Amino acid sequence: MPTQQHDLVIIGSGPGGYVAAIRAAQLGMNVACVEEAPALGGTCLRIGCIPSKALLESSERFAEAKERFAIHGIQVGELKLDLAAMLRRKDQVVTTLTRGVEALFKKNKITRYLGHGKLGGPGQVQVQNANETITLNAKFILIATGSRPATLPGIVLEGDRIGTSTEALSYPEVPKHLVVIGGGYIGLELGSVWRRLGARVTVLEFLDRILFGMDTEIAGEAQKLFVKQGLEFRLGCKVTGARLEGGQCVVESEGQEPLTCDRVLVAVGRVPHTAHLGLESVGIELHKKGFIPVNEHFATGAEGVYAIGDVITGPMLAHKAEEEGIACVEYMATGHGHVNYDAIAGVVYTQPEIASVGKTEEQLKEAGTEYRKGVFPFRGNARVRTLGQVEGTIKMLAHGKTDRILGVHILGPHAGDLINEAATAIAFGASSEDLARTCHVHPTLGEALREAALGVAGRAIHI
Ligand code: NAI
Repeated sequence: MPTQQHDLVIIGSGPGGYVAAIRAAQLGMNVACVEEAPALGGTCLRIGCIPSKALLESSERFAEAKERFAIHGIQVGELKLDLAAMLRRKDQVVTTLTRGVEALFKKNKITRYLGHGKLGGPGQVQVQNANETITLNAKFILIATGSRPATLPGIVLEGDRIGTSTEALSYPEVPKHLVVIGGGYIGLELGSVWRRLGARVTVLEFLDRILFGMDTEIAGEAQKLFVKQGLEFRLGCKVTGARLEGGQCVVESEGQEPLTCDRVLVAVGRVPHTAHLGLESVGIELHKKGFIPVNEHFATGAEGVYAIGDVITGPMLAHKAEEEGIACVEYMATGHGHVNYDAIAGVVYTQPEIASVGKTEEQLKEAGTEYRKGVFPFRGNARVRTLGQVEGTIKMLAHGKTDRILGVHILGPHAGDLINEAATAIAFGASSEDLARTCHVHPTLGEALREAALGVAGRAIHI
């Protein structure tokens, strides 16, 4: 049984793990990363953010060509979907990026172990693969094993007929009727993909609103746009089961007639991936929801063992895991490392995109925080007219006394890119006045953000 020595062993090569590995190598550590999948990059690169964004892009092009090219004076002949080619392109995007991570590992001299990693007692990780068990000794161990899709007790998963986001990234044909359970990030993104490609899509959501946690007004406005795009919603619908019966999928929900359809996407959240990690060998006990408890430096109760990303509490977002990974290894190497959770944005890559950073209006009301708000509809922005995408709104929330920006919520074109300016403003403790007095290039979408900032003081120009 071979034994190797490293300063840091990271279990998991998702955005949390691989970014932490690179940063630790930059800081002079001898780093190893254990990954059981043949490709590096974790859920995000292989079966999450990246392939879904590739399909969102392709399906949006298809929908545009079908419905919106004409407004630009572009006539197309008969439009045909080559789904196999679309899926191949998505796979190529994934391969390019996972190979990119491999190249970064080589460049930074990070040792990669292929196999299942588990803690084998203090300072030890065991890697099990088809051929051997390797023992790794390390001063520091970082658990970055991410999450897996959650399901519901009454749901009998059946391959790509009743499946999760993983299967919905590769349906071999466009469903006739796709029922999506859950009106969150995944349900809306993948529901949009298949709707644009021609499926009837029904979203069943337990709550009386979609996108729980995002600003209520923005989520409500987004839902109206999704309905216009043909997505059907049943809110307040508690799904209790789904099964395959006589070649059809049957979805049952409390107090409602069962729905039949040809495919079901279960998108009811994700759960931390902590099974078979040998946590008991170092005395780590899980939080009741399955998360690994850590302190402000991401240290677990076990000496030298740290955890970041989806296995600890907080939003399950790739960039949150990256931030934590960097802060965690900086702390190991230097004694300092910090994440500003107020400046971590969330983005739903629908059309239009929905992006949010900082506090929502509901959170401010609940906390009794005095605030002022600036709201700017995109239709007042020149650039959206040239794009032909005029729908959406920006809402900026600033402290009632200090004017410090507390939250920004955007529904509109390229919201996912625009939100980075808002996150930077929050990270620097900017006021709405700071943003309002910053010259923004004309004609750009960013001017709409400035107008929202001007709106906080009631002096937006183009409305
Ligand atoms: P989610 O937590 O965003 O939404 C799940 C929805 O399912 C909730 O609205 C919930 O009320 C509903 N639900 C739960 N039980 C139900 C039932 N019995 N019947 C009907 N509805 C029910 O989870 P989702 O969409 O699965 O995404 C998982 C995670 O992945 C999220 O935490 C998200 O942060 C992350 N993600 C992020 C993306 C991004 O950054 N663009 C894209 C995709 C996922």
